[in-house]
Amino acid sequence: MAVVISVANQKGGVGKTTLTLNLGYGLARMGRKVLLIDVDPQFNLTFGLIGMEVMNHENSNVGTIMARESDVNDTIVEVSENLHIIPSHLDLSAKEIEIINAYNRERRLQKAISPILPDYDYVLIDNPPSMGIFLVNSLTASDYVLIPLELSYFGVIGMQLMFNLMAMIREETNENLSLMGLVPNKFTRQTKVPKTRLKELKDAYPDAPILTTIPKAVALEKAQGEGLSIFDYEPEGRAAKAFEKLTREVISIVEGE
Ligand SMILES: Nc1ncnc2c1ncn2[C@@H]1O[C@H](COP(=O)(O)OP(=O)(O)O)[C@@H](O)[C@H]1O
Ligand SMILES: [Mg+2]
Repeated sequence: MAVVISVANQKGGVGKTTLTLNLGYGLARMGRKVLLIDVDPQFNLTFGLIGMEVMNHENSNVGTIMARESDVNDTIVEVSENLHIIPSHLDLSAKEIEIINAYNRERRLQKAISPILPDYDYVLIDNPPSMGIFLVNSLTASDYVLIPLELSYFGVIGMQLMFNLMAMIREETNENLSLMGLVPNKFTRQTKVPKTRLKELKDAYPDAPILTTIPKAVALEKAQGEGLSIFDYEPEGRAAKAFEKLTREVISIVEGE
């Protein structure tokens, strides 16, 4: 039965899509069966994995499965043997209003994916930079949350919003939701500021595990631009090493190795 992990942060540009994509590839390389789900109407993850084919998914995307207009099995796209994706689509933003007014609106994603969970080891959900019904659906369907963040002042204090939402989800729809950890992203040692912020982060949220730090690396941006994982774009670079370490860390948390 798959373990479901939401990659979430209400702030945009912090590395949610980068983390979902590269952790997904990392787990698939280590032999795990992985399903990625793109719940962001901006479909960056989908575009990175299937490119222009996203255009063919008007009637088979994450929004149509939540609206119960398509079957989940007909919606999954195989990227490679161990890596599949449920794509997003531009129309997803229009679906939001439909889902908000639908019966059982918080559990639409959970119900839609439950029949296919036995087919995977990991399900990773990439989320939009907002706290709406899509994020609520993702967190309701998840076992764990991974939070990428930038070590800026607002990046650190903004964590409180995610923690408040998680507390609400535990109270209302999913008591089993747990924080897997924070993933400091775009880390640089050139200035003292990130180190200071890292300490502030530890002081502010002493119970939040801080996982492998991902360095700031142009290779990550370039890889994304070419629709490649960092393991294919620059396998020997610092960023690939960091993602490999993070992948092992996630496996050890989930599988207890
Ligand atoms: N560690 C990093 N180093 C350099 N660029 C990064 C890093 N992580 C993400 N980026 C770049 O920052 C931008 C935002 O990242 P993205 O993953 O799309 O964020 P989000 O999904 O949270 O909006 C993208 O252009 C991405 O390539
Ligand atoms: Mg994104």
